[in-house]
Amino acid sequence: MTLRTIDCGDRGQIAVVSDGMELALAAASAVLGLMTNAVQARGVGTIALSGGSTPKTMGMLFHGEPFHSAMPWGSLQIFWGDERWVPLNDPESNAGEAKRGYLDEMPVPPANIHPWPTSGDPDNAAGIYADTIRANVPGQPLPIFDLILLGMGDDGHTASLFPGTSALSITDRITAPNPVEKLNTTRLTFTAPLINAARSVIFLAGGAGKAERLHEVLDGPLETDRLPSQLIRPTSGELRWIVDEAAAANLDRK
Ligand code: 6PG
Repeated sequence: MTLRTIDCGDRGQIAVVSDGMELALAAASAVLGLMTNAVQARGVGTIALSGGSTPKTMGMLFHGEPFHSAMPWGSLQIFWGDERWVPLNDPESNAGEAKRGYLDEMPVPPANIHPWPTSGDPDNAAGIYADTIRANVPGQPLPIFDLILLGMGDDGHTASLFPGTSALSITDRITAPNPVEKLNTTRLTFTAPLINAARSVIFLAGGAGKAERLHEVLDGPLETDRLPSQLIRPTSGELRWIVDEAAAANLDRK
């Protein structure tokens, strides 16, 4: 249940809920509503899931009602906004964890679940994924997702757009490899232009560890290289945040 909403203008509409379970419930409900509307309007619902830990609780809710029966699973095209450079069977894999956690038990045609390719060359893999997106997500000049779910790292990153990394400044591609020195790895990620083309973008952020950074991202000056979550400003779509009280503790507006 939403305790309060905060209007942060072009930084988004913030729904504050009490705790992690309420955050997961609010997220699952938002996915259900947006996907139902998309399928009713256009016959398909296109969604990009985020990685990390926050979506896992939401995923577990999809096993139960009303979500298992009400979600238009057969009409969804499911992607991920970013991925680690690991095989699907690796516990670090965003797609692998979602498939193992719930997706493989939902009635989604396997051809409609699109993990990133994570073998060969990262740049080539990003190009293949861009082609898959363009083949399954309508929209010109950029594919228009009905919903892109995002998390926010304690450092202000989102997807795999990390502070000070090369992918932050890419404007001529919808996907990219992104070397992340502090993680000693190359990640794969949607670029900001693709995310900003979406009809709906929803950030999920929970826990006290997010509080200071969330305050900087939502209340502070624009510093997109240091706070890449601030790159996300949908061109015409909606920007929402679902956060718990602990993450919202430092926000200027209560
Ligand atoms: C990833 C995610 C990443 C995540 C944030 C928040 O691959 O890790 O896509 O952007 O959303 O790091 O993660 P938590 O939900 O675990 O806080």
